[in-house]
Amino acid sequence: MDVATDARPYSPGLEKVLAGETSIARVDGENGRLTYRGFPIGELVQQGTYAKVAELLWTGEWPETAQLACAPLSGPVLAALRSLPDGTNAMDALRSAISAHGAAQRLTWPPTPEQARAMTALAPSALAAFARLQQGLDVVEPDAELELAAGFLYQLNGELPDDASAKALDAYFIVAAEHGFNASTFTARVITSTQADLVSAVCGAIGALKGPLHGGAPSEVVSQLHEIGSPERAEGWIRDALQRGERLMGFGHRVYRAYDPRAAALRTVAEGMASTADWLKLAVAVEDIALRILAERHPDRPLQTNVEYYTAAVLQGVGLPPALFPATFALARNAGWTAHAIEQASANRLIRPDVRYIGERERTLDQSVVS
Ligand code: COA
Repeated sequence: MDVATDARPYSPGLEKVLAGETSIARVDGENGRLTYRGFPIGELVQQGTYAKVAELLWTGEWPETAQLACAPLSGPVLAALRSLPDGTNAMDALRSAISAHGAAQRLTWPPTPEQARAMTALAPSALAAFARLQQGLDVVEPDAELELAAGFLYQLNGELPDDASAKALDAYFIVAAEHGFNASTFTARVITSTQADLVSAVCGAIGALKGPLHGGAPSEVVSQLHEIGSPERAEGWIRDALQRGERLMGFGHRVYRAYDPRAAALRTVAEGMASTADWLKLAVAVEDIALRILAERHPDRPLQTNVEYYTAAVLQGVGLPPALFPATFALARNAGWTAHAIEQASANRLIRPDVRYIGERERTLDQSVVS
């Protein structure tokens, strides 16, 4: 169809386009509400565990006894991790480890909750092993008695985490588990729609999550706050950064126009952690100033705090290095990606949109060679 006569609606970035149906999560951007299968995120954080929430996402059930421990790594996965060069990005490492897992498992389509559980249980062990290998340390075997978040910290540090850290990371895992048709989840659904296996879908999703506009923001929130240094310097620093055309990390969202409910839930978690006290004081002061300046500059476009802002506080508080933040997000989001893959397959239609062609009119190569 000619671009001049093509009257079909086009929305760059698919903004506001309905590209599917889901009964997994509802993201209500106008009112700042997030529910998983109808349950508000705040309630799930207060009363749930990541294992229960993951089961809820995969199956729609709320099994009181659900447990999910980290899985041991197979030979091919360990070999893949050992072969990575020094200084490898943690997201690349996680994607490579999961890819090696897929090569060995040869999963079949359609994806199942069993496949989803296995993938979600494997990823924290892979990331912890990668982090230790990069430091020249031995890999720690998983402890089957520990839940996923605690088990990840144990395998990372080689010692049992304190209760507060394990609970805080579990809360983060719940908050980050699922969020509708974000870029990485949509990627997972596109891949699943081709009848490719779950590992391929998750590897693609990790690739999409790697970008700073999606999953890379929390580590940048840390460097931003380090650079700002004190509340007194915040106003000048923020105005200069915006003047240079830079974006403030941890603010703004494609869907939320109200305060991100995940940021609110994580702020409560961070406030309960002694280890975040100084950092949190600075973060709260800078947040107030940033929101005031953003509102001043964009009176018609509400720009609010997003989940990444307080993610940074919680992940720092449990002792994770910023280089592992995006991959830790991926560990949590595994539940959402795999739940969406299962849902996509259950009523599958190949996802294949149209594109508007804006290039050269049809011409012949012969003419251009002659002229
Ligand atoms: N800091 C400063 N300005 C921002 C901003 C931010 N964090 N987020 C959006 N804006 C501004 C844009 O510059 C744009 O201004 P303009 O109209 O004068 O050009 C306006 O707000 C609209 O932005 P737009 O790019 O259309 O929003 P989006 O829906 O595409 O972007 C994000 C959403 C998340 C990509 C964007 O808000 C952002 O880059 N945030 C920082 C990164 C981040 O925290 N990511 C984690 C997301 S959970």
